[in-house]
Amino acid sequence: KPLLAQAGVTGTVDAKGDASSASAPQMTRDNGAPIGENRNSKAVGDLGPVLLEDTTLIEKLARFDRERVPERVVHARGTGAHGVFTATADISNLTSASLFVPGKQTPVFVRFSTVIHPSGSPEGMRDPRGFATKFYTDQGNWDLVGNNLPIFFIRDAIQFPDMIHSLKPSPVTNKQDPNRFFDFFSATPEATNMLTHVYSNLGTPASYRTMDGNGVHAFKLVNAKGETIFAKFRWISRQGVRNLNGPQVATASWNYLTDDLYGEIAKGNHPVWDLMVQTMKRSDFAKLDYNPFDDTKEWLDVPFRKIGEMTLNKVPTNFFEYTEQSAFAPANMVPGIEASPDRMLQGRLFSYSDTQRYRIGANVMQLPVNRPLAPVLNNYQDGQLDQATRTSDVNYFPAATAAKTTEARFRAAPYVVDATVDAKPIAKTNNFAQAGRFYRALTDQDKADLIANLAGDLNVVTSARTKTIMVSYFYQADKDFGSRLATAVQVPIVEVTRAVTEYRAANPDQNAR
Ligand code: HEM
Repeated sequence: KPLLAQAGVTGTVDAKGDASSASAPQMTRDNGAPIGENRNSKAVGDLGPVLLEDTTLIEKLARFDRERVPERVVHARGTGAHGVFTATADISNLTSASLFVPGKQTPVFVRFSTVIHPSGSPEGMRDPRGFATKFYTDQGNWDLVGNNLPIFFIRDAIQFPDMIHSLKPSPVTNKQDPNRFFDFFSATPEATNMLTHVYSNLGTPASYRTMDGNGVHAFKLVNAKGETIFAKFRWISRQGVRNLNGPQVATASWNYLTDDLYGEIAKGNHPVWDLMVQTMKRSDFAKLDYNPFDDTKEWLDVPFRKIGEMTLNKVPTNFFEYTEQSAFAPANMVPGIEASPDRMLQGRLFSYSDTQRYRIGANVMQLPVNRPLAPVLNNYQDGQLDQATRTSDVNYFPAATAAKTTEARFRAAPYVVDATVDAKPIAKTNNFAQAGRFYRALTDQDKADLIANLAGDLNVVTSARTKTIMVSYFYQADKDFGSRLATAVQVPIVEVTRAVTEYRAANPDQNAR
């Protein structure tokens, strides 16, 4: 067969597919009707216009026009992989969650991401990195929607839209601007711990395989007897934690994190993480110098225990179908795992499912990547793109004609609340101590990189006031850290110490600093 014909080109001017002579499958429109012409529009003669009656053309353009769903409002740039989780410890004393039976395997889908920049942005931008895991357990999907860093910038969901607005490109120039986000952070001292982490080289991982993952919030675990305990989860990378410094990021390729993950999985070099848990009882809280439900804090000095391991072994066959349409939500919990009172987690319980019903649609949970392996039985129905097959007319509850049960053993654990309802900050803020401890544990090179990374962005800030307040926070975390940063951004140290004095005068309660 001539080469052009093999490539599907039979003519010169009106070249078209050679499907009739080859054994290639027939193309169709979405209604299944065969397409006879896919390269030339129906036009009036040689010089005339194209006709609206060309339904093949109109359908093709209309479908193309609708290819994009809105990108995630945050964490738009991501990459995903399938894998398996194997429980390794009996923790039935802590939780009745059905996946934690030693040796039991549960399929997972993981999506890694950057946070602020759009879906096509370079993967080396400084950011926390998302580490979201969907466990398809036999009692429904559990989504552990975490980050590589163990803490967060703010501690109340009501501040999240403001913080993200400040970090996203300016609505006027469409450029990210340190003047804007440091303006926000200069009024947000609790962000000092997270900023110290993000501006360290942890903000630019060498690979998604070489990151740890953190659930960040405390969760409530409930065992079969109804006893509760609070817990934090962490993924520890068996590949070790490896990051890039500034010059290395500058030469990293646009897609280096996706290339690495896809490439290593293709080679059979499957990355593995250990799932660890920390636990605290309510009676442990009094001795803490921080609020255990404050997500700007780690539970430092609380031991970790390994409870399972996860291997990622397959990349999705189609990016849009799996990675883009994946919908992780902190509200997707399973019996035995419940929310703690963490004020950020409480906001996230609403926000994710809400955005996904907008981003993808009301029936987002029916898509293959989101659909639980456990059968779904409820009376929710209809809406755009509903694909469920329903043959019963009993779409209400209770119904004597077609009973469904809600077993009492799946009820959420009751708890007592006796407090004044008010919208006010938490008592034990302790905004700086953990940032200082993190700084002092860095190597000399990592300290130097952190200061250079932070100075790079702080030096863009034109307001002397904002710069001074920011440096004063890092100074309160650690004097050496703050002094070196002050030198790097040319803020006189007397100005820094004056800002510290003002801060302390405004926050006389040591615990509330
Ligand atoms: C994605 C909101 C805090 C980790 C998202 C999305 C929203 C959102 C709306 C997009 C979801 C989607 O379109 O599917 C919020 C709010 C927060 C908050 C309101 C605070 C109240 C956090 C925290 C973490 C986190 C503390 C880490 C522990 C993630 C991750 C994703 C994400 C990993 C990407 C999930 C994926 O890969 O699809 N967040 N977020 N977020 N968020 Fe948050």
